Amino acid sequence: MSDTVKIQYNGKEYEYPIVDSVIGDKGININKLRDDTGLITLDIGYKNTGATKSKITYLDGDLGQLYYRGYPIEQIAEKSTFTEVMYLLLEGELPKKDQLLQFEADIKKNSLVSEEMKQILKSFPRSAHPMGVLSTLTSALTAFNPHAVNVKSERDLYNAYTMLLAKFPVLCAWTYRLKLGLPLNYSNNSLDYPHNFYQMMFRKPTEELEVDEVVVNAIDKLLILHADHEQNCSASTVRMVGSAHTGLFASISAGVSALWGPLHGGANQAVIEMLEMIQKDGGDLQKWIDKAKSKDDDFRLMGFGHRVYRNFDPRAKVIKKVADDLFEKLGIQDETLEIAKKLEEVALNDPYFIEKKLYPNVDFYSGIIYRVLGIPTEMFTVMFALGRLPGWIAQWKEMRMSGEPINRPRQIYVGNPQRDYVHINDR
Ligand code: SDX
Repeated sequence: MSDTVKIQYNGKEYEYPIVDSVIGDKGININKLRDDTGLITLDIGYKNTGATKSKITYLDGDLGQLYYRGYPIEQIAEKSTFTEVMYLLLEGELPKKDQLLQFEADIKKNSLVSEEMKQILKSFPRSAHPMGVLSTLTSALTAFNPHAVNVKSERDLYNAYTMLLAKFPVLCAWTYRLKLGLPLNYSNNSLDYPHNFYQMMFRKPTEELEVDEVVVNAIDKLLILHADHEQNCSASTVRMVGSAHTGLFASISAGVSALWGPLHGGANQAVIEMLEMIQKDGGDLQKWIDKAKSKDDDFRLMGFGHRVYRNFDPRAKVIKKVADDLFEKLGIQDETLEIAKKLEEVALNDPYFIEKKLYPNVDFYSGIIYRVLGIPTEMFTVMFALGRLPGWIAQWKEMRMSGEPINRPRQIYVGNPQRDYVHINDR
């Protein structure tokens, strides 16, 4: 018999079952609360509310731990590849060799993007933010692949997401090429995922592409580290939109838009802009730490803090190491990285950050690496989206396969009580 919780209201007592978990938060099943009591719950920002039961990703905010399908992110980042992580998140198990080869082949056969998509891309000004371009192009894929996904058919669902996994990196690379006014590259099916993405981003028709394996490896690791993060804002958006039985491409397009926000994936761009601003302002770290702490100042330390982590974001630790290794191998002394490390040290010794348990998150160091890889600041969140794509699809697939109802929260109304209409001449 599972545990229960009792509440008393209006002289009556009500009992609700506890929903058990394999690990982490348990929950109160309040499905009958409103019918029993007429009450709903209020939890603005969903800080204490579970939206679903999921088997994909688990994170322990207090311990700073993250698991993809039970595997610790540190082991995955060190030993796996992004393509293998896609398979793990989507299918639930690490693939055997033949399964991985088939998965890669099924992605590659979809890697050609309709030529007409270029017309949409070229209608944007070069000044357009790549995340807005990417969200539009992702939604436009629906126009060229109009069939809705029959989620009752494993095959149909599989074909839909391998198609998206194939075309999304092309669209990401195209948003970069548009910004720089460079000709668009096609996928090269003779290459693995990270090498193919690298050539689509950086190959110029006028010269041989020099491929630095250290750089390609860093990109693959960063994509792994961004692949999923349970019910974050953009994943919840994908699930919310998908719960209306909206198609996969349009649901993912909504996720791209949610990730764009500077409080979410857009923070990696905001971190670099913040570090450059501090550098230009003379590098007085304490001044900016004090501004971040001040109630009267809306400046926040971008890349710091997290809704769930009350400890180091484990991804930030790995990314910091990727940055150190990369810069050592490339022989780069990056002043922005030095400022970031000093800022982290000052903040982590400041009572305000200690008491509020504010630590560096995934976005604090990632932008520093992207910049060294030659990726412009406005493309950083596109890189985040590329990494997060398999996680979004896995969340969408889990929600649709489980037959969850349309997401439709309730509200506490605090507006005008009923009143009669007044003609404009009498107002
Ligand atoms: C991502 O959810 C995910 O999993 C997201 C993500 C993923 O992989 O999908 O991990 C990716 O989005 C990482 C977060 C990137 N965003 C930033 O780095 C932006 C800066 N961080 C903050 O805006 C903030 O920490 C949030 C948005 C990340 C979390 O905000 P919460 O959980 O709503 O917490 P809050 O804003 O209520 O802050 C609690 C307190 C407040 O002080 P009080 O009002 O209690 O006095 O902490 C303070 C805040 O003012 N605070 C900060 C701060 N973050 C929180 N103060 C200064 N600088 C900060 N960065």
